[in-house]
Amino acid sequence: MTIDPADFRKVLGHFPTGVMVVTGATDEGPAGMAIGSFASVSLEPPLVMFCAGSSSGTWQAIKETGAFCANILGEDQKDTCGVFAMPSDDRFAGIDWTTAVTGSPVLPGVVGYIDCEIHAIHDGGDHDIVVGLVKEMAVTGEQGPLLFFQGGYGTYEAM
Ligand SMILES: Cc1cc2nc3c(=O)[nH]c(=O)nc-3n(C[C@H](O)[C@H](O)[C@H](O)COP(=O)(O)O)c2cc1C
Repeated sequence: MTIDPADFRKVLGHFPTGVMVVTGATDEGPAGMAIGSFASVSLEPPLVMFCAGSSSGTWQAIKETGAFCANILGEDQKDTCGVFAMPSDDRFAGIDWTTAVTGSPVLPGVVGYIDCEIHAIHDGGDHDIVVGLVKEMAVTGEQGPLLFFQGGYGTYEAM
């Protein structure tokens, strides 16, 4: 079977994800990008992962820092996701961020964050598979998560 990129996007779009903003404290200031490819990997040692487009300038800048913080967006942060997915001169303009132990930014109003040292970067085709060793983590909000499904946003409802 030949895999057409449009089919790849369509079929994978039927798998829902949460939304994170991965941040880093770069020499040029705070950097961040929206990602949906986050997953937990290992408990001992505590490892997580996400996939970053190899051509992403933001990822290249974060990679240089040797660390990242994965911020879990809440259901009321759709606009924040948009800011961190679209080109911008300063995605952090007007955002009152704080700092996690690696120095990476923690966004206000998030459900929680997972602050990591970069543990490994594996080949993932046109993406880098980034594995992080967790250095600090916390749940910081009571709200539900922001979800992404078939190209649109949604909220979680328990059955
Ligand atoms: C819901 C959602 C999920 C995304 N997931 C990823 C992802 O997992 N990996 C990735 O590299 N880009 C992902 N993106 C796209 C990036 O946020 C976008 O390409 C961003 O502009 C990259 O930053 P840059 O252009 O400054 O390099 C996602 C975007 C959205 C809206």
